Amino acid sequence: MKKGLAGVVVDYTAVSKVNPDTNSLLYRGYPVQELAAKCSFEQVAYLLWNGELPNEAQLAEFTARERAGRALDPALRLIIDALPEDGHPMDVCRTAASILGARHELTGDSSPEANMKKAIDLWAAMPAVVAFDQRRRHGLDLVEPREDLDYSANFLWMTFGEDPVDEVVEAFNVSMILYAEHSFNASTFSARVVTSTLSDLHSAVTAAIGALKGPLHGGANEAVMHTFDEIGIRSEEAMEEAAVRARAWMEDALAQKKKVMGFGHRVYKHGDSRVTTMKAALDKMIAHYGRHELLGLYNGLELAMDEAKAIKPNLDYPAGPTYHLMGFDTPTFTPIFVASRITGWTAHIMEQLASNSLIRPLSEYNGHEQRPV
Ligand code: CMC
Repeated sequence: MKKGLAGVVVDYTAVSKVNPDTNSLLYRGYPVQELAAKCSFEQVAYLLWNGELPNEAQLAEFTARERAGRALDPALRLIIDALPEDGHPMDVCRTAASILGARHELTGDSSPEANMKKAIDLWAAMPAVVAFDQRRRHGLDLVEPREDLDYSANFLWMTFGEDPVDEVVEAFNVSMILYAEHSFNASTFSARVVTSTLSDLHSAVTAAIGALKGPLHGGANEAVMHTFDEIGIRSEEAMEEAAVRARAWMEDALAQKKKVMGFGHRVYKHGDSRVTTMKAALDKMIAHYGRHELLGLYNGLELAMDEAKAIKPNLDYPAGPTYHLMGFDTPTFTPIFVASRITGWTAHIMEQLASNSLIRPLSEYNGHEQRPV
């Protein structure tokens, strides 16, 4: 028996390849670092769904479809408004995915064409949900999408209602590409399990959102910021002093045998292939906003963890403070991950359906022997 299915290969996939030995991650054969440096998130979404990068005409048609689907469905808005403002934004995301499924014009149709449309529609619609949800918690009104902006710029526009700065858009775009896909992680596997019963795409995505919410998975990007907050963010503090306080916090946490979120990975044991690229984006944001104390906290924790346990950061570690600097509320971080990972989840859902076999493992019984009632 393999507890947690650790090390178990359960199926083939052509969507992405994780190679922990070479510390690499390929989406449809392309290194993710190269995609992050050279592509828009829209191009990467197209790649994940279609297997190839789009040519100019394909990209134009694809981005037009995405832009046409950005507005928040008024019926969904009413439902979001009825949800508690102090509840977790992941609950709002999960509810939104379910509502959008129930209201989709092709509900009940799971043909490849219908599923592709559902995937694109859901992907296009999610930024409005995430942005509006953050705004309503601050008593702010919905910001309508802008068709002149690309996906990342429009996401920032709908959240903050201000013209986004190019460097910030670039860093956000990088994060969306890095979060898009990661083979058989817990949420993707959940989506594939649901799909394997021949349930529908929105049900599978809703289940995946539930899996992503946990702090051992996507919830870690939010949890990283809680660590920073617990140590205390003191703007204007010298980097070195912040690093000293962070080191002391980590030593104490490890002495208490705490799990520190944003570190470690089930598959990568020598470092997460996505961290270098995301850290470079974080560095740019730290320089842009002039917040070097955050770099002190970041370095202090990383170094202390490395010295004590040689455990490396995962993608959530640099992503958390990056979103914080951009102005996102901490509980909004994992919903941003959802908006990105919809692409990977739905690529897997379509792949699962194309050669489906019900996912139904066995268990070893260790309860009571048979006994009379
Ligand atoms: N902090 C402290 N110790 C850790 C950590 C950590 N973050 N991660 C692993 N360890 C230790 C763990 O205590 C154990 O030590 P020992 O053998 O002395 O008991 C050893 O390393 C092996 O850990 P494990 O939990 O058995 O390993 P795993 O492969 O089951 O865990 C993990 C992978 C991601 C669940 C774990 O590293 C963890 O809980 N990390 C924190 C949560 C986190 O950042 N999650 C995001 C994962 S990556 C992005 C994503 O998928 O969303």
